[in-house]
Amino acid sequence: MNEKDLIRKRYFELRDKIVLWDNAYYNEDKPLVEDAIYDKAYNELKELEKQYASYFSLDELASSPTQKINAKASDLFTKVTHKTPMLSLNKAYTFDEINKFINNVKKVTTFYSFFVEPKIDGLSISLTYENGKLIRAVTRGDGKVGEDVTNNVFQIKDIPKRINYSKSLEVRGEVYLSIPDFENLNLTFIKEGKSKFANPRNAAAGTLRQLNSDIVKKRNLSSFIYYVVSPEEHEIKMMQDSFEFLKNLNFHVSDETKLCKNLDEIISYIENFKHRKTHLDYETDGIVIKLNELEFYEKLGFTATFPHSAIAFKYEPNTAVTIIEDIFITIGRTGVATYNAKLDPVEISGSTVSSATLNNYQYIQELNLSIGDLVYIKKAGEIIPCVIGLVNEKENKENFIKKITICPYCGKNLFDNETGLEQYCLNELCPEIQRRKLIHFASKDAMDLNGFGEKVIDLFHKNNLLNKITDFYNLPNKINEIRNINSEDFEENELIKNELSKLRQKKNKLEKIEKNSMELAKLREKISKLQSEIKRGKTFRDGLIKIYLKSLEESKTKSLDRLIFAFSIKLIGSKVATFIASKVEKLENFLTFDFDSLIHFDEIGPKIVDSLKKWVSEKENQTIVNEFINLGLNFEYKSNKLSDKFDRKTFVITGTLSKPRSYFEKIIVQNGGKVSESVSKSTHYLIVGEDAGSKLMKAKALNIPIITEEEFEKLLNN
Ligand code: IVH
Repeated sequence: MNEKDLIRKRYFELRDKIVLWDNAYYNEDKPLVEDAIYDKAYNELKELEKQYASYFSLDELASSPTQKINAKASDLFTKVTHKTPMLSLNKAYTFDEINKFINNVKKVTTFYSFFVEPKIDGLSISLTYENGKLIRAVTRGDGKVGEDVTNNVFQIKDIPKRINYSKSLEVRGEVYLSIPDFENLNLTFIKEGKSKFANPRNAAAGTLRQLNSDIVKKRNLSSFIYYVVSPEEHEIKMMQDSFEFLKNLNFHVSDETKLCKNLDEIISYIENFKHRKTHLDYETDGIVIKLNELEFYEKLGFTATFPHSAIAFKYEPNTAVTIIEDIFITIGRTGVATYNAKLDPVEISGSTVSSATLNNYQYIQELNLSIGDLVYIKKAGEIIPCVIGLVNEKENKENFIKKITICPYCGKNLFDNETGLEQYCLNELCPEIQRRKLIHFASKDAMDLNGFGEKVIDLFHKNNLLNKITDFYNLPNKINEIRNINSEDFEENELIKNELSKLRQKKNKLEKIEKNSMELAKLREKISKLQSEIKRGKTFRDGLIKIYLKSLEESKTKSLDRLIFAFSIKLIGSKVATFIASKVEKLENFLTFDFDSLIHFDEIGPKIVDSLKKWVSEKENQTIVNEFINLGLNFEYKSNKLSDKFDRKTFVITGTLSKPRSYFEKIIVQNGGKVSESVSKSTHYLIVGEDAGSKLMKAKALNIPIITEEEFEKLLNN
């Protein structure tokens, strides 16, 4: 096939898929794929139409699903032609695209502002009032012709049936089902043996198109109204005023709106709303940015599908679809085996993901995964990418992945723990366990040895300078050996340099087009990061040695809890380590401490006590503790309590926050509070970030105060 044939083939493949997906989504209320996957295919189709327009006939282009809304008005309802078409919105995925939208607005007016609001994930509705009475409610349909669903809309409580306004009025908005109502509905469905709705949007759509309005009444639909048709007939000049107008007539309008003057203000709304949207009780699928000055709408004009006066911004999807190429395990510092999938590399939120965690073997079985499967990958914030499920569910198990029973690093057998959920390499001499322990020892939350990243540790390990954790403190006596490390080992610098020159070329190209784009800013940041990486590599044997010595020296005065955590004792995380350190007080007491005496405390269970007792009974560990003491490093516990502000208060943290979870944990503990993993009646606060899930639901059900990051900071500073 030549290029043209290939492009045409791909083009029609995409078209067929989208038509199929559109039909399932709009007409059957049963989506076949996630929004992010739909958007990807849709955008690819649009791109092909733009780039290779000459490969297609005008008829072909005109009949594309990108040129119309692929919904049909159902024959079951009376069809109504919209007086003013109900359009869709153009989408932006980057700040650059918003900027382009703004620049286009600037072409028609120097006087502008933007009304920004959430994009509600429901279905749009047009409501017509005559003499203050609701006389008709119509769905969007294909934008030109919709379905008359007046009887059903009469059952929606927050849609006024009478308004104090006698002129004829058409308003538009979104009908939706709240998340709690959606969950309840699905629960009843399960009980009745019916199949569940995929998401609140489909449940709302399925409900509004019920023929029996009694059913609609039971399901508790809600609405947000956001638009007055022909605003000039009602003396409305600004989008913001139309909200006031609607509010005064008792329509339910969003209280998450904001007037923004420029791109910067829009960006800050976007950043802010990213967190807030996760604790709203309805689903949003982005935000809508509308020119506030309605007088320019006509002048800006429309395409067949969307106006140029508004745009929808979609948050970067944090899921993607790819293929599992292979399965492998990694071994952690405590010997625990983690299953991972090697993936056909895929882009998620701006970075390339080529492997993702599968947790343990049971997880693989539960998801029914095989090599070659098409799967969803999720990556949220700093969380490690994870395989979350199959794209196409399988009826039965076939070519399932076999359990790995041998440690790939030392060749010894792996053992199941008591629960049968985890597998462990129990070989204390396993090189990977040793290596992981060293890396953990130096990490930020343990001894925080600045400069000792994974690569440096591997290099020192390879040169026999680091084998066990006490070796770190012998490094100051081995400066000559460090200086003599073969420089070929730093070949990764070459890779960095190559990457750098590629980025520079890209930057130069971009600079010729536009001086100040977001993409350019990102590139510049990347370049300076790489430059400093190279600098660090170059001055390795001089500057870096200074850094190493300094961070080792600084670590000597750290509190005992860090050292206990840095030992990599099974089940001893940093929280438990702090508690133990507060009891043990000095390192010299550690080997002889009566750990059984801790069993009465909430923080400690029998498994933790056993693990501690086992650790101190082992000879290698005793040697390590004694070596520290002999080096004069008798670490002491230093309480870092700042206040009693959160005394006896238990927090649970969920979702993706702007800072690592450990940051919040630290503040809570420093102020006398506790952090717990799960929500229960005794939880005092739930701190929520983006993509919060079941914990949020549970907290809502238990009426536990739910606070955002900002509210947490306020609580702290009060
Ligand atoms: S304004 C002329 N505002 O998104 C522009 N639409 O993709 C009309 N939607 O058909 C739409 N929330 O169903 C607007 N705050 C909001 C919205 C919103 C959800 C829906 C609406 C529209 C679709 C466009």
